[in-house]
Amino acid sequence: MRTPIIAGNWKMFKTVPEAKTFIEEIKGKAEVAGVESVICAPFTNLPALVEAVKGTSIKIGAQNLHFAEDGAFTGEISGGMLKDLGVDYVVIGHSERREYFNETDETVNKKVHAAFRHDLTPIVCVGEKLEDREAGQTKEVVKVQTVAAFAGLAKDQAAQVVVAYEPIWAIGTGKSSTSQDANEVISYIRSLIKELYDENTANAVRIQYGGSVKPENVTEYLGQSDIDGALVGGASLQPASYIALVEGAK
Ligand code: G3H
Repeated sequence: MRTPIIAGNWKMFKTVPEAKTFIEEIKGKAEVAGVESVICAPFTNLPALVEAVKGTSIKIGAQNLHFAEDGAFTGEISGGMLKDLGVDYVVIGHSERREYFNETDETVNKKVHAAFRHDLTPIVCVGEKLEDREAGQTKEVVKVQTVAAFAGLAKDQAAQVVVAYEPIWAIGTGKSSTSQDANEVISYIRSLIKELYDENTANAVRIQYGGSVKPENVTEYLGQSDIDGALVGGASLQPASYIALVEGAK
């Protein structure tokens, strides 16, 4: 009942010509009925990508936004600016932003609200560090992040949020969480949403797994009861691999 969603997070990769070529190569292929396909690209690529995917079912997302409407925030981009370009999704609170750019649970929540003000669907990232996992704190860490991210959201907004559970130790390391472990944490996140709202809302929210997902393991993850998709870094950068990810999510 939840539409699976594969989102490629290109991080700080690809120039505009490279981005355009990528779309030419995946058109008609990374478009599978019943699977949502989203490319989250650097800001500089967004206008060209929105143009390139016209007439396809592929959606475009940004990787960050500022929570203010406008103002003296040098180097920042607002939700209104993204919406104006025709962007549909925005990644919020990726662990790289939490680690290198002072993103906090509070700014994540403000950004989620900013996304909804501009009719952008947030892909909210949560996940534990290796030391949290080793200390048996995974659920506690994920709970704090999830509750903070959803703070103040109305039920109809909460139902539209996409959560990406990304254990930080599994990102770009080739060391993925087992599908069972990932499903256990993701089921827990769903139970938190049920506590915060209700069962219908919890059942509507899509929760992705992220961390060393590739064509060879995507079907295994999506076969789990609570995993509704994947947020993919490295393996989303090559057209053939991205196409295989979307096909694998059927
Ligand atoms: O946003 C994507 C994640 O950080 C996962 O990256 O697929 O390269 O491990 P990865």
